[in-house]
Amino acid sequence: MSNWRIIDLPRITDQRGNLTFIEGGRHIPFSVARVYYLYDVPGGASRGGHAHLQLEQLLIAATGSFDVIVDDGQRRETISLRRSYYGLYLSNMTWRELDNFSSGSVCLVLASRPYEEEDYIRDYASFQAKAIG
Ligand code: TYD
Repeated sequence: MSNWRIIDLPRITDQRGNLTFIEGGRHIPFSVARVYYLYDVPGGASRGGHAHLQLEQLLIAATGSFDVIVDDGQRRETISLRRSYYGLYLSNMTWRELDNFSSGSVCLVLASRPYEEEDYIRDYASFQAKAIG
């Protein structure tokens, strides 16, 4: 089973503008404990570069686009997010790097836990050793 997958979120299309909603435990496999977003990312910058011991997340390109490099310690894939009705689900123990942010893009993140620095693995070699077991 893969550590990541694209979730096609509900879309209410309307001439007045479209609407997407997310219910924790229904559209995503966790309850939402935290929301944060990345914005004003300068061209050429990259974010992430870590994994989490327990945290699960859903990443959404709320505006614009960016790429997410995902890695389970054995397999690496680059996923481009460019539609606000797609969410990228990341399980715990998934290394991620975000880059290629378009100008004005916003990366919205729903997270299963509050911020806990002790939940981060910031060194790739340590992550890989732990992931492969
Ligand atoms: P970090 O998760 O390393 O950023 P990214 O993965 O997007 O590159 O977080 C950057 C800084 O922000 C770090 O000092 C911790 C702080 N932070 C919080 O205080 N609360 C949060 O919910 C998040 C995500 C980060």
